[in-house]
Amino acid sequence: MEDLYNRKITYARLSVTDLCNFRCIYCMGESGVVKKPHSEMLSLEDYLLVIDALADLGVTKIRLTGGEPLLKRGLLTLAEHIGKSPRVKDFGITTNGVLLPTFAVSLKDAGVKTVNISLDSLNTNTFEKITRGGKLTDVLKGLEAAKAAGFDEIKINCVIMRNVNDSEIKDYARFAKENGVTVRFIEMMPFASQCVKQVGLFISAEEILTALDNPPHLKSDGVAEIYDADGAHIGLITSVSHKFCDRCNKVRISADGMLLPCLLQSGETDLKPFISDGPALRAAIEAAVKTKPRAQRLDENILQNRDMNRIGG
Ligand code: 5AD
Ligand code: SF4
Repeated sequence: MEDLYNRKITYARLSVTDLCNFRCIYCMGESGVVKKPHSEMLSLEDYLLVIDALADLGVTKIRLTGGEPLLKRGLLTLAEHIGKSPRVKDFGITTNGVLLPTFAVSLKDAGVKTVNISLDSLNTNTFEKITRGGKLTDVLKGLEAAKAAGFDEIKINCVIMRNVNDSEIKDYARFAKENGVTVRFIEMMPFASQCVKQVGLFISAEEILTALDNPPHLKSDGVAEIYDADGAHIGLITSVSHKFCDRCNKVRISADGMLLPCLLQSGETDLKPFISDGPALRAAIEAAVKTKPRAQRLDENILQNRDMNRIGG
């Protein structure tokens, strides 16, 4: 499937729940998530139909996200379905890691190839502050479980924020090397409904590179540019300072059944009315893809109204 600007859409991110056991400051408001009625959310069966429709339309890469996807009841059924889909070559999950000791082996058995773990500080107190109460040791145990399960790749996602965790940039390089993982620094993205004031917290990829003494560029990996910091693989995702919209191949499906054509701009299509009719669902997805904007417009102050926990990153 193609959008209006000749971009092939081959990657779908499925948010399976907007609930989370953390409340990261850049992701949701202090009071957490307001639970929506079941009738407004996709059921497990709905997800299976959406996955089949996406695969029929040429999607070859699927990533499960949240909120925290491992809180979703029946997640393994979903994962097994994706794992068995012959057209899906690339299957990943993005998690805060806390429940990986319980789920890592089953996820691997279901066919998950890559695990991205969000880990925004290596310092216990800072971690607790960013996640509003999360325990760093829980995530580190999750990482160990993922390493033991033998996934193809484990990546650590870290949103660097000024005067919050920016003193840890070099510690992460050490951490990446020690654990055999890629650490990816994600520029903090502004969302209209966010409680945190962006101003002052944002740090550009350029500053992060300076803090790492400008390591050599190694390769591009999707939207990340990977650098070699003394043997550590460090990725930078420059969603804000640079636009990589011209090579965007993604759509996102929210837990309430909306197709979001762009992460950084509002606009969504409700797929729920079409779910149980295969051809209608495929047509609705194709039509929604045609509404994908050419590029983000953060510099014009055009923002996304949904919070991150209702998008899935
Ligand atoms: N800016 C950048 N990254 C974010 N994430 C969540 N909110 C933001 C934001 N405002 C990241 C998380 C997680 C992934 C799903 O998205 O760190 O790794
Ligand atoms: Fe939960 Fe991830 Fe949002 Fe943090 S960023 S509150 S771990 S969904």
